[in-house]
Amino acid sequence: MKKLFIKTYGCQMNVYDSARMADLLTPIGYAATDTPDDADMVILNTCHIREKAAEKVYSELGRLAKLKPQRDGMLIAVAGCVAQAEGKEIIARQPAVDLVVGPQSYHRLPEMIAKVARAGGHALETEFPAEDKFDALPEAAHEVGATAFLTVQEGCDKFCTFCVVPYTRGVEYSRAPEQIRSEAERLVERGAREITLLGQNVNAYAGRDAAGETWTLARLIRRLAGIPGLARLRYTTSHPRDMSDDLIAAHRDVDALMPYLHLPVQSGSDAILEAMNRQHTADTYLRLVDRIRAARKDLALSSDFIVGFPGESDADFAATMKLVREVNYAQAFSFKYSPRPGTPAAAARKQIPEDVKDARLQALQALLSGQQDAFNARCAGKTMPVLFEKPGRRAGQAVGRSPWLQPVHVDGAANLIGQIRDVRIDAVLPNSLKGVFADAPREKALAI
Ligand code: 5AD
Ligand code: SF4
Repeated sequence: MKKLFIKTYGCQMNVYDSARMADLLTPIGYAATDTPDDADMVILNTCHIREKAAEKVYSELGRLAKLKPQRDGMLIAVAGCVAQAEGKEIIARQPAVDLVVGPQSYHRLPEMIAKVARAGGHALETEFPAEDKFDALPEAAHEVGATAFLTVQEGCDKFCTFCVVPYTRGVEYSRAPEQIRSEAERLVERGAREITLLGQNVNAYAGRDAAGETWTLARLIRRLAGIPGLARLRYTTSHPRDMSDDLIAAHRDVDALMPYLHLPVQSGSDAILEAMNRQHTADTYLRLVDRIRAARKDLALSSDFIVGFPGESDADFAATMKLVREVNYAQAFSFKYSPRPGTPAAAARKQIPEDVKDARLQALQALLSGQQDAFNARCAGKTMPVLFEKPGRRAGQAVGRSPWLQPVHVDGAANLIGQIRDVRIDAVLPNSLKGVFADAPREKALAI
């Protein structure tokens, strides 16, 4: 077997794509390794969302280029969104790269590898091909843990003015519900207890079944929740505009759907939201949050924020801080605006100075992390079901997730990976919880 090392940057969809690339290369003789040093093939699965993410790729390529002369026949591939956005410029900038393959064409990797092995030179695939990538991919063969990702929707038609996604991932596309169901069943057979449905705009899901009917995400969730052995469902990332009534109702009705929602707002200023082309206001977002919380009282919210978007005044930023105080998030991600080539906002005249962005980011992050700490602190003394995912750092410890996605550490649970147990939280650590089993150990589980 040849050795394959894949390094993944960026979002969860890239994590999913990396696993699918491994599935694709296993039949042609590649087995995963966890270091590039002895790899026959290295794939960097890249992210283009902010300049920093994209630049990291070139420094990693520089390191890999030095390894190449020592390893006869080693192949270097750049996949993902930098590959899509920069194409052959990557090879011009780093000639050690053999293959460049975009997120919609990686199912062609085996042919590309064969071509380079046969004829030398480079191979480049950054078209959005007519055939369906998902039809061309083999069944999942990679190791599946207690939690798994499943892409149900890709691409975006929203065109937020800061964002590269419509250009790197293409237009919105939804997979057929039957195809998703069989992939979900296979993941569960292979050990998944929780599946996170992925899409750049996941709640715009509109997959057509064989009868020609279009399914909403809510209908898909209700269907998948019936798969025996599947205990938990999540989905990400949602756009506020597509948070339909039936999806909100699913949060009320479907027990397997976890009470946690990542619902990016980006800004609390209507002027900035308009300039971002977000298609919602601060007020419509707040009213939406109220409706979702009315359907599921214990739902925790998370969000993404951009500070220093072109034209953002002190008053605009104050409006973001005000919205954060009103919503009270359990978790959130915040970023300084990074101009991306080819996006409308990058050409705006009123770019914000770096020091102003820094100060705003610091203030926002202080507020958000205070809210996260308070949310975690409220969990002390509570009992909650925890799905155990992996051994902890200390011997005999295991780590799982609460329904609200918090990591939970428990002693004496090393053999409980994949099980859900009730845990009473007795300590709140900076970014995680610690607890003890609240349910009596089950005789059968102990006997195994
Ligand atoms: N600059 C900074 N942050 C960005 N994001 C997307 N594009 C940019 C950009 N150009 C953030 C948004 C999005 C998250 C995935 O990344 O907040 O929701
Ligand atoms: Fe990065 Fe967006 Fe591409 Fe994911 S879809 S890898 S976040 S640019």
